[in-house]
Amino acid sequence: VRRITVLLGPRSYDVIVGQGLLDQAGSLLPETPGTRRVVILTDSGVGEIWGARAEAALKTRGEIVAVQVASGEASKVLAVAEQVMDRMVSEKVGRSDLLVTLGGGMVSDLGGFVASVYHRGIRVAHLPTSLLGQVDAAVGGKTGVNLGGGKNLAGTYHQPIAVIADTETLATLPEREFTSGLAEVIKCGLALEPSLLDLLEPAAPAVAAREPEVLAELVAACVRIKAGVVAQDEFDQDRRAMLNYGHTLGHALEAESGFGVLHGEAIAVGMVASAHLAADSGLLDEGEVRRHISLLERFRLPVTASFDPEAVLERILLDKKRRGEGRWVLLKGLGHPVVVPVSEEAALTAIQKVLV
Ligand SMILES: NC(=O)c1ccc[n+]([C@@H]2O[C@H](COP(=O)([O-])OP(=O)(O)OC[C@H]3O[C@@H](n4cnc5c(N)ncnc54)[C@H](O)[C@@H]3O)[C@@H](O)[C@H]2O)c1
Ligand SMILES: [Zn+2]
Repeated sequence: VRRITVLLGPRSYDVIVGQGLLDQAGSLLPETPGTRRVVILTDSGVGEIWGARAEAALKTRGEIVAVQVASGEASKVLAVAEQVMDRMVSEKVGRSDLLVTLGGGMVSDLGGFVASVYHRGIRVAHLPTSLLGQVDAAVGGKTGVNLGGGKNLAGTYHQPIAVIADTETLATLPEREFTSGLAEVIKCGLALEPSLLDLLEPAAPAVAAREPEVLAELVAACVRIKAGVVAQDEFDQDRRAMLNYGHTLGHALEAESGFGVLHGEAIAVGMVASAHLAADSGLLDEGEVRRHISLLERFRLPVTASFDPEAVLERILLDKKRRGEGRWVLLKGLGHPVVVPVSEEAALTAIQKVLV
């Protein structure tokens, strides 16, 4: 079992990573004085497989209120958040009670959001069951729902009291979701911790077989990296941007595909484009660009996509205008992210190299 503390003063908490932890969730969670009810929020896909075990593990902590929403990003909206809260009211969930999310990033974002506003804020803990959830979404305290105008446009910061990542639960994750999550692991290695790549490369067969101990090592490594960044920049003023390597193009590809391309698949292509951009400005050498491509290919992630480069560039410019940031995360050597302005021409040239 690996324990990583996210150091945020009074909001500090542990992320516990290991095999078979779901059954121990009741004893692993910190004390929550006054808790009488434990809301377990999950989605239909995860609830069917893992719901009963989570309920059995948590019933020592209070009366269980099981709440299930439909799986899929469409549930991450205000209307569903309201339904969940109405149900909590009818079950008399109070200020001292606990909400536990069981599922991927959709569920932790939705549940974190609900917990942050219900009775002006109650405690939340996350039991992430997707690889993206374990290495990214459940850690760091960002919550959110989607609005008609775009993803994550309404949200809060609400740190959990604990995150328990049981790598055994990853066994049932659909293959494409699993592979997509690996893109974030590779991102952590390329952008922030190249030693992780040395761990990752030879482990490809064990990763593909989803060996829980190997996954625990990778998840813990990524959580350590994210925890370090979040501890320095809880409210996303500067340093947290470094976690967005590959995301400028990635977000545009997700949107351009109508979200048919998964997040990890999109950032995989985004990282290759960023590597080309960095090479074009002398920040990376060709060998480092090839390392991006060979790593991603080894883990069956795409390194190119077929979209119209001009349309994709339009999306990037629109997005940047809306978010008020005209800059990209590039690497000045592996593990050294820098945020730099990139001209439209340079961006288009790099995008054209990955859009075929
Ligand atoms: N808050 C943050 O910092 C942050 C960071 C990254 C992503 N996110 C958010 O996370 C969401 C994406 O997360 P995701 O990729 O986990 O998607 P998801 O939660 O929708 O899960 C993907 C699919 O996998 C299924 N699933 C999850 N775990 C499973 C398991 N163990 N066995 C079987 N099926 C399982 C789910 O039911 C769902 O159908 C997005 O909404 C994104 O905005 C948030
Ligand atoms: Zn991401």
